[in-house]
Order: sequence, then C-alpha cells, then structure tokens
Amino acid sequence: MANRKLIAGNWKMNGLLADARARIAAIVSGADATPGVDLAICPPATLLAAARAALADSPVALGAQDCHAKPSGAFTGDIAAPMLAELGCRYVIVGHSERRAGHGESDATVKAKAEAALAAGLTPIICVGETLAERDSGRALAVVGAQLAGSLPAQGAIVIAYEPVWAIGTGRVAEPPQVVEMHAHLRAVLVKVRADGAATRILYGGSVKPDNAKSLMHVANVDGALVGGASLDAGQFLAIAAGAAND
Ligand code: PGA
Repeated sequence: MANRKLIAGNWKMNGLLADARARIAAIVSGADATPGVDLAICPPATLLAAARAALADSPVALGAQDCHAKPSGAFTGDIAAPMLAELGCRYVIVGHSERRAGHGESDATVKAKAEAALAAGLTPIICVGETLAERDSGRALAVVGAQLAGSLPAQGAIVIAYEPVWAIGTGRVAEPPQVVEMHAHLRAVLVKVRADGAATRILYGGSVKPDNAKSLMHVANVDGALVGGASLDAGQFLAIAAGAAND
C-alpha cells in the first residue's frame, strides 16, 4: 500500500511577519481541499512562534529548517531541537544541501542532528542528493545511497527527502525515470537497514511546481515533496498538494 503523501514547504530564509501571516492564512483556508495529503510548512526560526499561532486548529503541521545536534550549550546562534519542539514543531529539516555545502555538514553531523530531533520528539526530514558532476559521472546512486546510509539514525520515525542539488532552485527538474531509479535505490537501502523501511516516506525535492507535481508525485516510492520556491506562494503550494493526492 502506498504511504500517505507529505507535502512540506521549505521557506528557506524568506518571510517577514506580515507576509508570512497572510501566506499561512491562505494555506490554512485551502488545506481542507487536499484531503489524503499531509501538509507542513517550515518557515525561518524567527516566524515559528507566529506560525504556530496561525496554524492552531488547522491540519497543517509546523517544521523548522535545521537544529543543533546538542540539546543545549555554548553554541552561539544555533537552535536546539527541544526548543523547536517547545515551539510546536513536528518536523525539522536536517542535512539540506544548502547546509551540507554552505555550512560544511557531514553525514555524521546530519545523523547527529536527526538523532537530536528524534530525542526531542520531532520527526527529522533528512535530505540527500547528488551534484551535477556526481550525476554526470554516473555516481549518483552510489553517492546518494552512501549519504543516506551515513545520515540515518538506527531507529525512530523519519522522513527522507531526495533532492538532486542540480534541481534545487534551478527550474530544472529530475526526469521521472531518474526519480524512479533513485527512489527505488533509497527504498532498498531503507528496507535493508531499518525495520520501518517500507513505511518511511521518501519525498522528492527540486523545482517541484504545480505543473510537474502530478507526474512526479505518482512515481513509485515517491511519498510527497519538499517544496522550496513554490511554497512561498500559497496557491502554488496548495496546487502541488492537490496534484499529489492519490487518485
Ligand atoms: P526548490 O527548493 O523547490 O526551490 O527547488 C527545494 C528545496 O531546496 O527544498
């Protein structure tokens, strides 16, 4: 049986209070039109408290974009997973390629963050994905499989997001056969190393838009989407969710 789909919006470093409130209100008012699909938004940390209030009594879950591996301590500027849990987060993205590349995060760091998230009662959305050079040299499956194996906590409910780096924010989307192949590979890794491997949701991310959501979301082993740019537009975000709903 197919896993229930999750459409998660990664707002990245975008949003001030007024536009965030308006966007969330629009998402909440349209959320009932996408039954059968779970929705989550991951605004910047500065907006989490306001987002929690705006999402109250709605089916839309709240997520954060990163957490530290330690529950507290002398880590200026960082945010710990228990802090996010206290703010009402259900999810936290860890290991996004923008953090792996821009902040030097290794698989071991990502795994430690995912474990910290789980310890705080959050569900980590663990991101993996190859660069264009890695794909062009035929190493995509090996690279991403190794990233996944190195980033996975041994147990606890997780979500995986496959995001080819070359498809993020570029408008260039992976072709369905590439997604089929990679998601089957990731599923095989998950099933091999974790008891809940078949039920673990594997999201696709990278230039997901309303016009490609339907074809991408109905590929085998695709259990939803991690949406960047299009999640900043409530109408587009909801249209992607509608496209993802099981027929
Ligand atoms: P994009 O970003 O949808 O803008 O390509 C996806 C992501 O980075 O999560």
